Amino acid sequence: MNENMESAKQSIRDVLDFPKKGIVFKDITTLLKEHKHLATVADHIYDYYKDKGITKVVGLESRGFILGGLFAYKLDAGFVPIRKPGKLPYGVFSEKYTLEYGFDEIQIHKDALNNEDIVLLHDDLLATGGTAAASIDLINNFNVQETYVNFLIELDFLNGRDRLPQNHEIYSLFHF
Ligand code: PRP
Ligand code: ADE
Repeated sequence: MNENMESAKQSIRDVLDFPKKGIVFKDITTLLKEHKHLATVADHIYDYYKDKGITKVVGLESRGFILGGLFAYKLDAGFVPIRKPGKLPYGVFSEKYTLEYGFDEIQIHKDALNNEDIVLLHDDLLATGGTAAASIDLINNFNVQETYVNFLIELDFLNGRDRLPQNHEIYSLFHF
């Protein structure tokens, strides 16, 4: 990893016992607030995906919206939000998924993508993989050409990657 990427990685702050006891929360606000780190990450993503013909970046509520919008701009692509229930105003596809305790649900607008799209799915962090797996299921409603999957951070010890379908390229910038 080059010096700028290492420095961006180091800027991510660990917050102990948030939001509950025992969790080490990866706080990306300390990366986001520095222009040099934002530029490092955006330029790196541009270099990695620039030749893949991405037409839409799909970002996950809420932290996936921040870099997702920036990456869409850099890649000359559109941006599509995946949101929690009751937030999108038009017709939606929905997916329920399991969390550590209980269920959650995410939605995408029914006209958000089409079968000509090449998608980059982005979220800030891969933990257990439930959110990302449900997002891929949502994108599968559209029969798109290809879906690439990107995370800023992957928590390797939770093995979230194993929960995702094997037919998509997954790339995480920082591993912990
Ligand atoms: C966090 C993170 C991912 C998800 C990863 O979102 O931003 O979306 O958890 O967890 P998983 O791999 O175990 O599914 P959170 O639900 O905290 O929402 P937020 O982005 O709105 O803070
Ligand atoms: N989402 C799930 N686990 C997380 C963690 N440890 N830090 C930040 N976001 C998370």
